[in-house]
Formats: sequence, C-alpha cells, structure tokens
Amino acid sequence: MKFSAVATVLFVLLGAVVWAQGRKESFQPAAYYKANCEECHGTAAEKRFNPDSPEGQMIDSILNGAKAEGSKDMPAFTERGIDETKAKALISYMKSFRE
Ligand code: HEC
Repeated sequence: MKFSAVATVLFVLLGAVVWAQGRKESFQPAAYYKANCEECHGTAAEKRFNPDSPEGQMIDSILNGAKAEGSKDMPAFTERGIDETKAKALISYMKSFRE
C-alpha cells in the first residue's frame, strides 16, 4: 500500500473515533427527561418539583434518589450515568417551564 492510502485509512478511522466520542458526550436534557423523568414529574415538570428548592438538594435527589409519601420512590440516577453536570442540565430544563 502506498503511503497516501495508509494515511487515508488512518484519517477515516480517526474521524470515526472523534464522531463516536461526540455522540456519547452530547447530552440532551429534553430527550432524557422525556424518557426518564416525565412519568413522575409530568410533561412540564409540574409534579413533585419545586423550582425554588435549593439546587444542592435537587442535585442530591437526582444523583441519590428521593422519596415522597404516596408515590413511587425516585431512583438514584448516578447508577444510570448521570453526573453533577448532567443533573444541572436537567434542573435547568425543569426550571425552564416556570420562567
Ligand atoms: C419513579 C418516580 C420518579 C422518577 C422516574 C423521577 N423522579 Fe424526581 N422525584 C420523585 C419523587 C417522589 C421526589 C420527591 C418529591 C418531594 O420531595 O416531594 C422527586 C424529587 C425530585 C427533585 C427534587 C425536587 C425538589 O423540589 O427538591 C428533582 C430535581 C427531581 N426529582 C428530578 C428528577 C429528574 C431530573 C428525573 C429524571 C432523570 C426524575 N426526577 C425522575 C419521583 C421521581
């Protein structure tokens, strides 16, 4: 194989890796909320969510779960790949309905 052919193959492989990384890291709060949170918090975060709660408390609920009488417990989302940055993105999304 000529050098240019090798270079082309490497370049395409590198491109594929970068593309895959980008896909993995782009987190979309709206889509995630719809799939994982809407069932308990409603389409517009109108249930079991107080936009005035301290942010630290909200982050803690998302990462470690929460309980409330008369409803299913909220699961801990750290186990499902949610970190503090993603939790904050989800909180902004939920708050955006009230602004
Ligand atoms: C199985 C039901 C359920 C699911 C699914 C769920 N939650 Fe919750 N969530 C709750 C309950 C119950 C509470 C506690 C509410 C309370 O304290 O009155 C809560 C509390 C919260 C709070 C704190 C609210 C406050 O005012 O302090 C936030 C923020 C939150 N959830 C976000 C989320 C996000 C984001 C998701 C999806 C990633 C999610 N929840 C998925 C049931 C759920």
